[in-house]
Amino acid sequence: MAGSMPLTIALSKGRILDETLPLFAAAGIVPSEDPESSRKLVLPTSRPGVSLMIVRASDVPTYVQWGAADVGVAGKDVLLEHGGVGLYQPVDLGVARCRMSVATKRGYDWSGTVQRGARIRVATKYVKTAREHFAQKGMHVDVIGLYGSMELAPLVGLADVIVDLVSTGNTLRANDLVAVEDIAPISSRLIVNPGALKLKRTAMQPLIDALAKAARP
Ligand code: ATP
Ligand code: PRP
Repeated sequence: MAGSMPLTIALSKGRILDETLPLFAAAGIVPSEDPESSRKLVLPTSRPGVSLMIVRASDVPTYVQWGAADVGVAGKDVLLEHGGVGLYQPVDLGVARCRMSVATKRGYDWSGTVQRGARIRVATKYVKTAREHFAQKGMHVDVIGLYGSMELAPLVGLADVIVDLVSTGNTLRANDLVAVEDIAPISSRLIVNPGALKLKRTAMQPLIDALAKAARP
């Protein structure tokens, strides 16, 4: 599959790795050692010439966009925030599914706030996506950027609402928050550097096709 051209795949540890490695295995690519326990950031695989690069989830699009990795797997949330410039997104892998939502404290008068056109504070790590979402709704917001634990923000008065990912809803429930609006369904996508695809199509196209076949509908 790799031919004479080396192929580099950017993945992030945790959820994406857990849910994506079986898909890569179905495509005939298995890392030479366990990426979760290894301290190595570049790992050879069972396929000669194909290596895995382990990066932060939010850094995957950057590595692929700049051609440091040929392909990668990133959540739609990360891609929305990145903007997707300089990337193809040929396959929805259907893994790490959740939704990006607006959430408030239970009892907060969300529809009243929207109707009044009140200015609100929004805490999120998805600053750009949140700004765009509320701008489209014609709402005036101050967006406060956080790196995690967004659920805390409404509880301590840092923000009126949060924009975060929701899957089971357990995190919201545990913090007495409720989702009041969905922004986008989220799953992980295969992303590809367009220049690399042109140069290495014979190596990359079979991988894209195999992953499309292995993807969860
Ligand atoms: P970083 O290291 O950049 O902070 P992270 O902590 O967001 O990354 P993960 O929590 O592993 O990394 O999330 C990786 C991706 O998994 C997210 O970008 C999103 O697409 C998806 N994801 C996050 N939370 C959930 C969830 N609760 N259920 C399903 N998918 C999720
Ligand atoms: C994600 C997200 C929510 C939680 C939602 O966090 O940021 O906090 O999952 O999932 P739930 O609806 O099933 O509770 P994660 O567990 O990945 O931790 P993180 O904040 O370190 O990313």
